[in-house]
Parts: sequence; C-alpha cells; structure tokens
Amino acid sequence: MIIAPSVLTADLADLGSACKEAVDAGLDWLHLDVMDGNFVPNLTFGPPVIAKLRQALGDGPVFDAHLMIENAEESFQQYIDAGCNHISVHVEAVRHLHRCVTAIRAAGASAGVVLNPGTAVDAALEVLPEIDLVLVMSVNPGFGGQSFISTVENKVRTLAKAISEQVANGGREVQIQIDGGVKAHNIAMLHEWGARNCVVGSGLFNQTSSVAENLAVIHQALE
Ligand code: DX5
Ligand code: ZN
Repeated sequence: MIIAPSVLTADLADLGSACKEAVDAGLDWLHLDVMDGNFVPNLTFGPPVIAKLRQALGDGPVFDAHLMIENAEESFQQYIDAGCNHISVHVEAVRHLHRCVTAIRAAGASAGVVLNPGTAVDAALEVLPEIDLVLVMSVNPGFGGQSFISTVENKVRTLAKAISEQVANGGREVQIQIDGGVKAHNIAMLHEWGARNCVVGSGLFNQTSSVAENLAVIHQALE
C-alpha cells in the first residue's frame, strides 16, 4: 500500500520542512493538494511553490498533483513543468476528460481522474484504458481533517473489478487511490476494498505526534 502524505494539514508556513520530514520517514509519494478557491472553497499553492519544493527535495519523491481547480485542462502542463510526475484531474471540472488525460500522458506525466463522493464511477470507467490511477474522494474536497465517507465502498469495489478485468484482457494496471479521512483505524479496510494507494493528511501531520510515529501506527494497522 502506498501511503501518500498530503501536506495540507502540515505547517504551511514551513512546507519544505514538512515535506522533508515525510521523505525522511520513508514516504516518497507526496500528494500535493492544489486548490484554486473556485472548484473548492479553499486556495492553497500552485506551480511556483511546487517548483521550489522539487528544488528542495531533489528528483526522488513522486509529486502527485491533485488538481482541485477549474481549468486543469489548460493548466496541467505548468504542474508538469514545476516537477510533478503525476496529475489527477476532477471529472467534475474537466469538460473533455478523454482528451485531457491522454494529453497529460503525452506530456510525460502519469494521469489520474478524481471522483467526488457524489460522483458516479461511470466517467472513470469510460477512460480506464487511458489512465494510471483513479482517485476516489472519501471526503468532499477542500479541507483536511474531515470524516471518512464510507458510502464510497461500492465505487471502489466496482473499480477494482473493472481494473482486474482490464488487466486480465492485457490492458493497463490502474491504481486505486483513496483520499480523505484515511487513518490507522480504517486503512486495512481500504486495502481489502482494493485500494493500493492512500492519501493521509491529518493522520500523519498533527500536533500529537511526529510523521514517523504516526506512520508506524499506520504500518502496524496494515500488517
Ligand atoms: C481534501 C484533500 C485531501 C486531504 C486529506 O480536499 O484532497 O488530500 O488533504 O486530508 P485528511 O487525511 O486529513 O482527510
Ligand atoms: Zn487530495
């Protein structure tokens, strides 16, 4: 299971150190929550900050850009240029989804589609042969520290079945990533559903313990 730290609940006044703490704890897939204040009611950071993080962290870590923005189709290249390896776009925000994900892959990044809790799985199934990852939101996007929405279970299981059929027919493997309210108490359940990549924000970055200590508890839950 890939544990992808979301730095949204980290000390944003010292983002580089928060990312370094995660990388030093052995987490090499960083989940970067890009928010534009339009698609979601919050605004975080964009390409300039991401480019500085890439400079500070070197080429090692995977930068996974979760684009909670209205114009992902026009602007994803800026995130690749800033050093992102993976781009996930919301099906609710992109008018031409097939064209967008194929363009992301043509630009050299891996491509993901994101489904909000209220969005049916169908759009992701339509582009399943063209993508590398499906991000199933288990909170409504915009903030860290929210509670897990368990009604996404069927969506995840449907995706897992469709992906195994696609692979059995010689098609591409697609990762299921779950994002929002993931903690030590529910992550083993998500693995059983079929998720192989979980974003963890406040479960790793919080006042009570260090990233390494929180990660140890999460790893224990997965044993
Ligand atoms: C929410 C973001 C999530 C969030 C996860 O819009 O996409 O990545 O930061 O934070 P937790 O794990 O605290 O729910
Ligand atoms: Zn996210």
